[in-house]
Amino acid sequence: MSSEVATSRRARVEARNFMVGLFMPSMSGGWTVSRATNLDSHRYQFLRKLALIADAYRLDYVFMGGGYTPPTANPFRCRDRITDAVSLAAAFGALTTNPMVIATIHILYRHAPLFIAKLAAGIDEITSGGFSINVVCGLSPDAPSMFDIPDLDHDERYAAATEFVTILQQLWSSGEPVNFDGRYYKTHGAFLDTKPVKKPWPLLVNAGFSEAGKNFAAAQCDWIFIISDRPTDYDSVARRVADIKTRAAREGRPVKVCMHPYVICRETEREVQEVRDHILRNVDAATLERQYQAYMGPQAMTQSHRQTQRVRGRISSFSAPFRFSGRPPRSRTSL
Ligand SMILES: Cc1cc2nc3c(=O)[nH]c(=O)nc-3n(C[C@H](O)[C@H](O)[C@H](O)COP(=O)(O)O)c2cc1C
Repeated sequence: MSSEVATSRRARVEARNFMVGLFMPSMSGGWTVSRATNLDSHRYQFLRKLALIADAYRLDYVFMGGGYTPPTANPFRCRDRITDAVSLAAAFGALTTNPMVIATIHILYRHAPLFIAKLAAGIDEITSGGFSINVVCGLSPDAPSMFDIPDLDHDERYAAATEFVTILQQLWSSGEPVNFDGRYYKTHGAFLDTKPVKKPWPLLVNAGFSEAGKNFAAAQCDWIFIISDRPTDYDSVARRVADIKTRAAREGRPVKVCMHPYVICRETEREVQEVRDHILRNVDAATLERQYQAYMGPQAMTQSHRQTQRVRGRISSFSAPFRFSGRPPRSRTSL
């Protein structure tokens, strides 16, 4: 390992026992699905400020989600614009020196593995080995027609993704042209002239929740995002961590397990409760419902559906009526 790589972002970050990162609110309105939000949170100038703060506080990663949203008739345009994750990763990689930059890529959306391999090697170069792909294997209901791809059933997506990632890894690490003749992907004589800085290849993360998803993550990915059954169900977290670690051990691989809790940071518990209540009172029920419907069905992204279902349940049991106040209780609610 060269000294440059030894001091790379990834080496520094992965040496920690406990990593802290930031899920960038790169979709309009961010993570709350609430009217108590900044609807311009996806704009670059805002996200840039967050990236610089994350860097100044030496956070371990910035995570950019991704997706394509259909036009909406919803007057409150929560989550209907998502700034491209790969572009943001390149920009934040150039702006910062500390955090890993993780970009979501829907790998099944008819991208050639060689194209993604080269893109990743480029940002890995910019970040001195600090780039990571959040490998998303899900399809939104519109994706097959929008991207002209076969409507693979849920578990088959992970079989296709395994082929895709295998080709990526060969391209990233092989000094020879790559030939691959798979069921879903074929390539002949593909050669990547610019290898990633991080050997043998960049960090791969995944948030699969189904059996197929967890097996894929354990076999192919380095960091795995999980959710709890309920917000304070810590036993379910311990169970999931053990489950993931067992699957990875079967593959003979070390993995890190991550979560993405929503943190409300205020001086006192009372202030935290005020902000929480404000967010819940102003929840954007129409967007939540649309998201819930989109994730339903046998082809659904089970985890996303389960999460949305959970929020939906919590919100309907929240006694206060929905209303739009437009202003958070304290000016510090938004950055
Ligand atoms: C922390 C986290 C981040 C995720 N980010 C995205 C994302 O940016 N875009 C996306 O389409 N899906 C995203 N997902 C969905 C997962 O990639 C996956 O499709 C989902 O959890 C369903 O798992 P399954 O395919 O095993 O059913 C995310 C899930 C989690 C828990």
